[in-house]
Amino acid sequence: MKKHRLALFVSGTGSNAINIATYFNQHNSVKIGLFVTNNATSPAIQVFQAMDIQCEIIDNIQAADGKFLIDLCAAQTIDHVVLAGYLRLIPAAFIHAFNNRIFNIHPALLPNFGGKGMYGSRVHAAVLEAGEVESGITVHLVNEHFDEGRTLAQFHCSVDQNDTIETLRIKVQVLEHDHYPIVIEQTLNLENHV
Ligand code: GRF
Repeated sequence: MKKHRLALFVSGTGSNAINIATYFNQHNSVKIGLFVTNNATSPAIQVFQAMDIQCEIIDNIQAADGKFLIDLCAAQTIDHVVLAGYLRLIPAAFIHAFNNRIFNIHPALLPNFGGKGMYGSRVHAAVLEAGEVESGITVHLVNEHFDEGRTLAQFHCSVDQNDTIETLRIKVQVLEHDHYPIVIEQTLNLENHV
């Protein structure tokens, strides 16, 4: 069977990307073919290099250049892209080239607490500020509007009175690590059967 080849895009520490790469290591139908980051100090770079996965560090001009990103992916015959804490706007040409084949994860229950500027601890601060009793994660496809592509799955956690940004971040990260790879795998499996 032909393997899906995924690219992982990261701006931060890349814990999700590393978790996804570990999950798909030796997988029979999915291979991580490319790691892309606009953060030259991301600790994930060393991990991916050690896993012998092609790593590309891009600058902000390259990140805004759809053709550049398309060519980068084409060179590694990438068929799906996974955003894992990637904070640059994805150029429209790239979204069109990978129509419905770009995954993203948001650390809250969209459509709430999403949109431009809502990332990282800002999301958890807003959830706490709003007095929510639950939060969670949303795995969705990417379109041209921030956090508005089709939702693939959501998973919930409780928000307790004594939660802080940090405790909520950890609860959400546990959900991310448990579910993001599996939602990607299931979505790719479904595609294989249409
Ligand atoms: C995660 O919370 C993810 O939901 C969001 O960015 C964060 C990335 O964290 N999109 P990490 O770099 O994978 O640890």
